[in-house]
Amino acid sequence: MPGTLKLGFAPLTASAKGVLVVFCDESLTVGPRTRRVLGPLADGLKRIAAADHFTGKSGSALDLVAPAGIHASRLIVVGTGKDTKTAGKDMVKLGGATLGRVPGRASEVTILAEWPDGAMKADQAADLALGITLRAYEFDRYKTRKKEGEERPASVAVTVGVGDVERVRKSWRTRDAVAQGVVMARDLVNEPANVLYPEEFARRAATLKKAGVGIEILDEPAMKKLGMNALLGVGQGSAHDSRVVIMRWNGGRKADAPIAFIGKGVCFDTGGISIKPAASMEDMKGDMAGAACVVGLMHALATRKAKVNVVGAIGLVENMPDGKAQRPGDIVTSMSGQTIEIINTDAEGRLVLADLLWHVGQKFKPKFMVDLATLTGAIIVALGVEHAGLFANDDKLAERLVKAGQETGEKVWRMPLGPEYDKLIDSKFADMKNTGGRHGGSITAAQFLQRFVEKTPWAHLDIAGTGMSSPATDINRSWGSGFGVRLLDRLVADYYE
Ligand code: BES
Ligand code: MN
Ligand code: ZN
Repeated sequence: MPGTLKLGFAPLTASAKGVLVVFCDESLTVGPRTRRVLGPLADGLKRIAAADHFTGKSGSALDLVAPAGIHASRLIVVGTGKDTKTAGKDMVKLGGATLGRVPGRASEVTILAEWPDGAMKADQAADLALGITLRAYEFDRYKTRKKEGEERPASVAVTVGVGDVERVRKSWRTRDAVAQGVVMARDLVNEPANVLYPEEFARRAATLKKAGVGIEILDEPAMKKLGMNALLGVGQGSAHDSRVVIMRWNGGRKADAPIAFIGKGVCFDTGGISIKPAASMEDMKGDMAGAACVVGLMHALATRKAKVNVVGAIGLVENMPDGKAQRPGDIVTSMSGQTIEIINTDAEGRLVLADLLWHVGQKFKPKFMVDLATLTGAIIVALGVEHAGLFANDDKLAERLVKAGQETGEKVWRMPLGPEYDKLIDSKFADMKNTGGRHGGSITAAQFLQRFVEKTPWAHLDIAGTGMSSPATDINRSWGSGFGVRLLDRLVADYYE
C-alpha cells in the first residue's frame, strides 16, 4: 500500500464507504456485528465463496467489487483459517497481510476487527493496527513521479472497527510509539549517504529531545580528548567529520543503573583503502542500520515513557579512501589503551564499536550492553537473512534476546565465542589485529568486540543480513527493515521495566 497512513479506531458497527475488510474462518462465518454490517450479503457469502473456490484458509482472501446492498465500493473477506486462536497468535502479521490485500488506489479503508465469535481483544486489535502501520510504510521521498497505473492517493484513511474503542486506543499508544520508532529507523537506513552523513545523522538523532531524550553530541575534538582513536581512524579519510551521539532516557528510579544500546553508524562504507568491489557497493549506505535501530528504539522507549533508565550510543563515521585515509598496517591506540593493527580498512565497524563499548562501559556502568552492527558479510553466509547473529558473554541476556526474537519475529540465533577464536586476532606488532582471516569471520569480529567489554553482561547482534536489503514480508516492504527496534523494545518491556 501507499501514501500517508491515517489510522483511526471506531466501533465495529461503523458503516463503510470505501474498501471494507472483514474476517471469516473456514466455516465461512463472520462475526455477529460484521454480519449486521454486511446485511443480506452475509447470507450470500457461502455461494460467492464457492464460486470463487474461497475456503477461508489463512492467507487467502475473497475480493468483491461493488458488492450489492452495502455502501462499500469493495468487500475483501480475509480468511483466518480453521481456528482463530492460531490466527490470533501473530496479529501483527495478520494486520500486515490484511492491508496487503487492499489495492493501492484505495483512499478509504475500514477493517472490522472481529472474529467469527466476537470482537478481537484490545491487545489483538492494537497489534493488528501495528501490522497495518508497518505494512503501509513506503520510502518514496525521492520519487517525483509515479508510473502510469501506479498513481496513489496522497493519504489513506484506515479505520479499524473494534469492540471497545477506548481500550484499544490505550493498547495502541505503546504500539504507536514502537511503530514510530521502526519508521524512524527505516527512514534513516533508506536515506542515501549524500544526505545522511555523520553530522546530519546526529542532527536527526537530536530531534529526540522533543520526546524527552537527553542528547550529548561529541565532535572530533571531544573524541580526541577521550582518546577514541580507533573510531577517529575510520573517519579520517572522509570529508565529513565523525560524531558520537549519546542519548539518555531516564524513566526508571534515580539510583538504578541504566541499560545500554550501542549502534554502528557507518554512514557509508566504501571499505576505505581496502576498497570494496563496485557491485552492490550502493548498499553500503545502510551500514548504519545498527545506529538507526538505537535511535528508533530510544524514540519508542521515550514516547511510551518506558519505566527504565537507558543509554543509547551511536558512532557515526564515513569510511572513505583518501590521501588522509588510514592504511593497512597502521597501528592505532584505542580509548581502552589497547593497540590495534589495521590489517583491512574494510573491517571498520569493530573499530568504531571498540571505542563506544569501552566508553559506555566505563562511563555509565550499565546493567548490560547490547550492540547492533551490520558487521560482517560472513553472518549472511552463516544465517542468511532470517536470523541476526547473537554473540554474548552472558547466558541470561542471550536467552532473553532469543525469547524476545521469537515473540516479535525479529529472530536471533546464538553463535559461539571462545579463546580458540580469540587467538586468531592476536597481532605480530600490536595487541590485536582487526581481522582474523577467512574462517569464522563473524566470530572473530565478535571476539574483537569482546576485548573492549570488561565484566558487563554484553550481547552483540550482527544485523548485516537482517537490517538492510530486506526481503518483502507481510509487515515490511522497505529496503531498510528497522530490525531490532521491536526486538529490543520487547526485551526491555518483558524484563527491565
Ligand atoms: N559493512 C560491512 C559488512 C556488510 C557486508 C554489511 C554486507 C552488510 C552487507 C563490514 O564493514 C565489512 O566490510 N566487513 C568485512 C570484514 C572483513 C574485511 C574482515 C566483510 O564482511 O567482508
Ligand atoms: Mn567494511
Ligand atoms: Zn561496514
